[in-house]
Amino acid sequence: MSSKRKFAVIGNPIDHSLSPKIHKLFAKELGQDITYEAIKVEKEVFESRVNRLFEEGYEGLNVTLPLKELAFDYADTLSEDSKACGSVNTLWKDGSKVFADTTDGRGLVRDLTEKGIDLKDKEIIILGAGGSARAIIASLLRQDPARITIGNRTRSKAEALANQFSSPTNQIKVVDLSQDLNFVPDLIVNSTSAGVLKENVEFPKNLFSKQAQVYDLSYSEFHTPFMELAMQSGAEICYDGIGMLIHQAALSFEIWTGQTPSINFDKKDLL
Ligand code: ATR
Repeated sequence: MSSKRKFAVIGNPIDHSLSPKIHKLFAKELGQDITYEAIKVEKEVFESRVNRLFEEGYEGLNVTLPLKELAFDYADTLSEDSKACGSVNTLWKDGSKVFADTTDGRGLVRDLTEKGIDLKDKEIIILGAGGSARAIIASLLRQDPARITIGNRTRSKAEALANQFSSPTNQIKVVDLSQDLNFVPDLIVNSTSAGVLKENVEFPKNLFSKQAQVYDLSYSEFHTPFMELAMQSGAEICYDGIGMLIHQAALSFEIWTGQTPSINFDKKDLL
């Protein structure tokens, strides 16, 4: 019988996932004998399929769209970050219990830190108020920014997020995308799916400046549409989300194996 430890990413669609490549690079670097597959799982059969994967000996699963909320409901024990954002991207079994965490927000912060972007006392604006935004806000707040502002096409969703994460010790504001900002952001995060959907995104006319660093949670081989837009509008420092993807994977790998991969590859190795 094979002694390889078994891991997988589940989602639908899943063919495009870079996780198998990333985890195999980690395993190679750290001398771990693992398999890591991409497995398509339909929402409707989530529970029975995941039960079966654990029965078949998978030790850990990454979970991607559209299954992150179902994984949240499925787990026996949730990390504080998972509880805060209501979704899960990492599952693992210990004894008879299934544990869960979400590593997206910490992955983003690690990537920002690696890029020398310190968030303390900074003005952050997030465009979009869907699952991706919800997954990062708790981690961003822990960096003690001056304020987080959310702008979303559907304002009520931004308000719901702001209410969810507001506390006496932090400031979360909501803005209308059709109006000028009354502050200069230090970091602009695009969490909308507009680029992936090949749609234009509305934004406040004075959003971009030389000062603001721009981070798009999506990624592509070259500049993403949002990065192009930002540079045409005066932004000078723009990143896509490939670094976050690699760091969130590294955090999952650490949870499962106790080993910390060095992030010594970049998107040219992946895309
Ligand atoms: P994800 O999990 O990727 O965050 P999601 O939960 O479906 O996906 O959220 C997508 C986000 O992108 C939402 O904030 C959505 O805005 P609405 O709440 O108004 O739907 C935003 N979005 C998608 N297409 C957009 C577009 N063309 N312009 C602006 N925002 C867009």
